[in-house]
Amino acid sequence: MLVTENLMKEHQLILKYVDLMERYAAFTLKPPEMPVLLEKAVCFIEFIHEFADHFHHAKEEDILFRYLGVPCVLTHCNPVPQMLMEHDKARGYVQNMERAVQEKALTALADNAGQYARLLTEHIYKEDNILYPMGEAGLSDGAKTALLKEYAQTDERLDSRAIWAKYEALCAELELGLDALVG
Ligand SMILES: [Fe+2]
Ligand SMILES: [Fe+2]
Repeated sequence: MLVTENLMKEHQLILKYVDLMERYAAFTLKPPEMPVLLEKAVCFIEFIHEFADHFHHAKEEDILFRYLGVPCVLTHCNPVPQMLMEHDKARGYVQNMERAVQEKALTALADNAGQYARLLTEHIYKEDNILYPMGEAGLSDGAKTALLKEYAQTDERLDSRAIWAKYEALCAELELGLDALVG
């Protein structure tokens, strides 16, 4: 029984957006400077708020990390505090991005988008390859069953199917937009 499979699927979509955001940022700063990232930043920020921070973290922070915090589940070390610190750091970059959008500060926007992208790429690598396998190994079958039930309730409450459909469509749109720019 695996309890991190769905979270890893969510990571894959987050990484797609991170990659797109970096490519938009690179295009934005290439001469002649074009404010394309500024135009699309609202989409990226909305995705980060709704999909990454609200939908993904509703399960990762509020459910999985709670189960991993039970004594003796993680025996060697507990990377959860470090992961939470990185979530907060990521939120800081997003706040900076929002401010940069308001101020139409293109360089600050691209810089913070790049920092967010780099942090998230490393963060997701650590979760997929270190924390999640530790969780799979440490959680009992009973805990996993209870955890999956809580995930299912959260997915239903937040309308998982609608969120996936919305953001897969937006991802395809952003990809097409970039293709059109690159020619
Ligand atoms: Fe995380
Ligand atoms: Fe995650």
